[in-house]
Amino acid sequence: MGIESSCDETAAAVVRADGEVLANVVASQMALHAKYGGVVPELASREHLRNIVPVVRAAMAEAGVGFDNLDAIAVTEGPGLAGALLVGITYAKALALALGKPLIAVNHLEGHIHAVLMENTGNRKQVTGNSLGPLLALVVSGGHTHLYLCTHISDTRCGAPDSKPTHDDETVMDGAPGSWQYRNVGRTVDDAAGEAFDKVAKLLGLGYPGGPWMDALARSGNPRTVEFRFGQIKARRGKVEKESPCAQHFDFSFSGIKTAVLRYIQAHGMAAGVEARRRALAEALKANPALRPADAVREMPEVFDRQTLDLIASFQYAVVGNLMRQTFAAAEALGARGIVVSGGVSANSELRRRFAEEAARRGLRVEFPSLAMSTDNAAMIAAAAWGKFCAGEFAKEGLVATPGLKLGSI
Ligand code: KG4
Ligand code: ZN
Repeated sequence: MGIESSCDETAAAVVRADGEVLANVVASQMALHAKYGGVVPELASREHLRNIVPVVRAAMAEAGVGFDNLDAIAVTEGPGLAGALLVGITYAKALALALGKPLIAVNHLEGHIHAVLMENTGNRKQVTGNSLGPLLALVVSGGHTHLYLCTHISDTRCGAPDSKPTHDDETVMDGAPGSWQYRNVGRTVDDAAGEAFDKVAKLLGLGYPGGPWMDALARSGNPRTVEFRFGQIKARRGKVEKESPCAQHFDFSFSGIKTAVLRYIQAHGMAAGVEARRRALAEALKANPALRPADAVREMPEVFDRQTLDLIASFQYAVVGNLMRQTFAAAEALGARGIVVSGGVSANSELRRRFAEEAARRGLRVEFPSLAMSTDNAAMIAAAAWGKFCAGEFAKEGLVATPGLKLGSI
């Protein structure tokens, strides 16, 4: 069982050793935080507390298994909001103790990477393995924009006592047997990419979270209208010698483009239009809280003027281009033979299309999670825990929430 409560989603999942997801329940608090335009930590903790028991019960019922059938309880240790993490950890500890099952602590970012590996069980040989070189993972969400070089360090086969291999190569779960080692080779020095999407959407009077709105609206705009530039980021010096490609870092910065959008809005007298849009969308969302961005675009065309659509398309084109440049440069410099992109922003349709085109051009493989696995969920936490279960890496009784938890070495 996986349990996730690091931000604004309370989630529980039951995943089999072969990667089959028996249940993946997510209680989203999006509507609660939407009126504040961002996640309010205290409200998030309170909602987790309210949701955790029903969410775990729902996952067990959906999976159709009893608590005795579980091999272990896995929980997100960090990074995330302290109070939010604490709810999941306290619940998971209590459950593990009561059931006499092992507890496994999982890094949320490792979870995002394993969302993709888990879903690739069927073509594992092409996605994982250590003979052909490491994988490069871009984790891009509202809180993170990180690049990791992922190496599969051992090939210990491990199956749950009652699990049957479902694939020809006897692999029980993609990425699960053996352990993975991670090296951080890039990160944002200021805002995360998803944060930039959300902030720019807010500047333009769109709904929350902004990413899906920007994605839907960018389709109707011309990406060549506004040219956004990304400055060079001062190189980080690793412990390794700077000449070695291993010491190279591929960092990101998204706060500059957010400011550039703000200036554009001011310089082009767009403030009144933004205010009118904010009011119109607030009304429409009040009447229909389930209003999706694509529906709004279709049903309220008068709210989205050409200048705004072109600005959105140009912003998205620039952000995706920057994510691509850094990711492919890192993959080439570090000899990665495949790329994994995950996290909320990996749901972006332009990002998927352009990454796939560029990877095909370079003869590289690129994999994304399904849309449901892109954003926060607990199946990815259970998936990342399986390798640790096999290796006997269990959490200590004193496990605490670690809001600033890092993944791997630098
Ligand atoms: O992974 P996630 O659910 O939570 C974090 O760990 O942050 O990611 C949420 C982020 C938000 O910033 C949201 O705006 C962004 O992912 N997002 C998108 C899209 N769908 C979600 N950004 C761009 N395009 C999308 N289609
Ligand atoms: Zn996340």
